[in-house]
Amino acid sequence: MAYVVLVSGAGSNLEALIEADVGKISSVVADGECPALAKAEAVGISTRVIPYRGGRASFTREILDVAGDAEALVLAGFMRILGKEAIARFPNRIVNIHPSLLPSFPGLDAVAQALAAGVKVTGATVHFVDELLDHGPIIAQKAVPVLPGDNACSLHKRIQIEEHVLYPRVVEALLAGRLSVEGRTVSWS
Ligand code: GAR
Repeated sequence: MAYVVLVSGAGSNLEALIEADVGKISSVVADGECPALAKAEAVGISTRVIPYRGGRASFTREILDVAGDAEALVLAGFMRILGKEAIARFPNRIVNIHPSLLPSFPGLDAVAQALAAGVKVTGATVHFVDELLDHGPIIAQKAVPVLPGDNACSLHKRIQIEEHVLYPRVVEALLAGRLSVEGRTVSWS
């Protein structure tokens, strides 16, 4: 089953999906030039840059055009909010990874937010995407302890180690139809 990966940054989660050989990535879409694109091109995956202009609805429509008959959208460090057209076209078929234990610390700089709050444990969350920011039903989480002396960089590195294990597992389960959603509860089979 083919899916589209949406990126904005370094592409380490994209790389983890490629290395885990989960399903077929039909294309990688970015909202601007970023290192993730070269990672896709290096393994022959087609890429597209769709700059965010003209508003959320037209940006989303352009992404849906590229998605064609793909089965799912996988947001891997994608720093834009998709419009409701995408959620309608892919109900419970859009997933996102976020570097905190949601619902704590949604939005930008989640790792710095956790440090500023003084929490002792943070982590990574994979969730279905709905129309609100970092809000849809939670599929999987992994806790990561905050260590004395951590800064945003050291803590984010440890969170990403967990992300790279978690995300391929979730995407594999999604493509295999092993995730079901009732209200806010996601069950694995
Ligand atoms: C990841 O840590 C991901 O959780 C985060 O961006 C990073 C992207 O890294 N996503 C968000 O903050 C979304 N709200 P990558 O480009 O190396 O995969």
